[in-house]
Amino acid sequence: MTVTVLVTGGAGYIGSHVCKALAEAGDKPVCYDTLEKGHDWAVQWGPLERGDIGDKARLDEVFARHRPRAVIHLAGYIEVGESVRQPERYLHNNVTKSDALIDAALRHDVEAFVFSSSCAVYGLPQTDLLAETHAIAPLSPYAESKARVEQALGEAAGRGLRSASLRYFNAAGADSGGTIGEAHDPETHLLPLAADAALGLGPALTLLGTDYPTPDGSCIRDFVHVSDLADAHLRALDWLGRRTANGHEAFNLGSGAGYSVRQALAETARIAGTPVPHEVGPRRPGDSPKLVGDIAKARRELGWSPQRDLAAQIEDTLRWRRKMSR
Ligand SMILES: NC(=O)c1ccc[n+]([C@@H]2O[C@H](COP(=O)([O-])OP(=O)(O)OC[C@H]3O[C@@H](n4cnc5c(N)ncnc54)[C@H](O)[C@@H]3O)[C@@H](O)[C@H]2O)c1
Repeated sequence: MTVTVLVTGGAGYIGSHVCKALAEAGDKPVCYDTLEKGHDWAVQWGPLERGDIGDKARLDEVFARHRPRAVIHLAGYIEVGESVRQPERYLHNNVTKSDALIDAALRHDVEAFVFSSSCAVYGLPQTDLLAETHAIAPLSPYAESKARVEQALGEAAGRGLRSASLRYFNAAGADSGGTIGEAHDPETHLLPLAADAALGLGPALTLLGTDYPTPDGSCIRDFVHVSDLADAHLRALDWLGRRTANGHEAFNLGSGAGYSVRQALAETARIAGTPVPHEVGPRRPGDSPKLVGDIAKARRELGWSPQRDLAAQIEDTLRWRRKMSR
């Protein structure tokens, strides 16, 4: 049976991959996006309903028209640094407006709600691998916004909403079909910036700190392919559908392995066949030396495991950046 799913932020990087995965599974993604940051060319697998998640009347109209059984909520502002400079703007767009979306989901009897959270909710790691049981201690308004929406979903469970928050680590790569990929402006993520530097499409990359207490001094991160992330959303919907009680659960989505920024650059250079021009800069405030997820819960409960390694993520990124530049 075809399930209609409202995908907020579906015109963005991860949301467009989620829409593709839904369509390939036989479901109908309805993309709900302002296009403030997203792209109409990324909406290829279902209708685009232009709208803001804070707009109650527009939400009611779209829910009534499409009657989605589930919501996948990816819409939001995503830049940690910008959130430090403009905290109110982030809390308004990401939290207050998410509250409006959650209320709409409750009004329209949505059966499952999946939210894009972030490993940023953990703050400074107290353990080597971050499990979902790690303390929540956000270090930026962006991370705070994710923690607050998770909390709101926990409260909405008491009003009848069944939900899962997916705490992504570093999303990377692009769809193998070559028609969607990361297109942020400004781009702040490591792999596209490294790819652009290697391909001569962008400036030399700045390494944000090389004096961290890690083997090579650069930060260690956990990169996960965006198509693997998309697959996890479908599994989370299935998992919620099998639940008998309302509730809210969080799942880490990463690869379970860490690579340093320098290792990621070396791998980009190897695959591109050309060095990645780079320079050393100061640390960025709020960056943790190491963020690597324990993904046992997603493996066990969702039956999910990442299929595409760092090399695959870099190959897809290089191909996508080349294509975007043409
Ligand atoms: N990219 C990552 O590595 C990463 C990591 C952790 C969490 N996340 C989360 O995943 C989600 C998607 O990230 P992305 O990288 O695809 O970002 P993106 O900017 O490409 O996509 C976000 C989309 O949301 C839309 N949007 C923003 N505010 C809106 C609003 N009020 N109403 C309707 N649409 C709105 C934008 O137009 C955009 O299309 C975000 O919530 C982000 O915080 C991303």
